Amino acid sequence: MYCKKKNNKIEGVPSFYKKSSIHLTGKNNKIIFGKNCNIINCRIKLYGNSTLVLGENCHFENTLIMLTDSEARFGDNTEASRVTVTSTGNSLLDLGAGSVICGEFDMRNKGIIKAKRLWTTWGPHIAANHGKIEFGDGGTADSIIYNSDFHPMYDLEGNLQNEEQDVIIGNQVWIGRKCFIFKGAKIGDGSIISSGTYTGKEIPPHSLVAGNPGRIVRRDIVWAVKDKPELKKHFPLAPDDEEAFRAFYHEAYEVNRTIKQRKGCLWLNWLRVYMAFISSKK
Ligand SMILES: CC(C)(COP(=O)(O)OP(=O)(O)OC[C@H]1O[C@@H](n2cnc3c(N)ncnc32)[C@H](O)[C@@H]1OP(=O)(O)O)[C@@H](O)C(=O)NCCC(=O)NCCS
Repeated sequence: MYCKKKNNKIEGVPSFYKKSSIHLTGKNNKIIFGKNCNIINCRIKLYGNSTLVLGENCHFENTLIMLTDSEARFGDNTEASRVTVTSTGNSLLDLGAGSVICGEFDMRNKGIIKAKRLWTTWGPHIAANHGKIEFGDGGTADSIIYNSDFHPMYDLEGNLQNEEQDVIIGNQVWIGRKCFIFKGAKIGDGSIISSGTYTGKEIPPHSLVAGNPGRIVRRDIVWAVKDKPELKKHFPLAPDDEEAFRAFYHEAYEVNRTIKQRKGCLWLNWLRVYMAFISSKK
């Protein structure tokens, strides 16, 4: 579907599309649906110069996406449930294949939120302003993760005191409930952030951090999504043997989708998307 006058475009049709709406306002908006995408009870609003890309086999349910001069990309097999994405000012959300997400993603002023594969539970609030928040293959429970304080603070000479700083979170990091990860945090692979922790510091790999302010309370720890006998063969782990840690997490860290893909009548879905496209042109 293409509107030449406004250069708005929708490529692909969801294989299941129910109780959802699409609004394309302004010019140069583009939506790309990969093969076999499910869109259920979603609101998708693009307000100009915006691009939304869903890879193949994505399942989006109870989700609101609002993009202004921004881009959001979700890799193949992403499962999104109760997600809110708001993005303005040349910002980007880029989540890799196999992500399983809920929660709020807020990007402003060239803010970037990026992940190799993201796994969130219980709805975190992740917001990037003038900089980036980058995850490896890992995730978070219902924590707050900001690279910015969102308001400037000055000393009496007028010097800015709280510039934005990128947040970098490694692979297989476990961020417990109600943490506050803020500007400057660099969390090494395999670390655990205990629930309620407050940190903006550099944390070496395989550390356990707890408290406010967060302090390293244990080093050389690993964790698993669930206990299983196959993990035993990896022990003992030598502290500097990164290869052995990778092999351990290959078995210990698993991200499973919970919702099955559905299929509907393709031409009916096409008609619904087409009607949305036509009505939002006005
Ligand atoms: C990370 C976690 C699993 C660690 O469990 P644990 O090893 O049994 O933790 P402990 O309570 O023994 O704490 C470990 C150390 O940190 C210290 N610590 C824990 N919380 C602290 C806090 N808020 N402030 C200061 N120190 C703290 C403990 O005193 C202890 O120190 P010690 O070894 O000197 O006694 C646990 O702290 C946690 O956060 N659980 C909840 C995780 C969660 O949110 N799960 C939901 C799914 S993501």
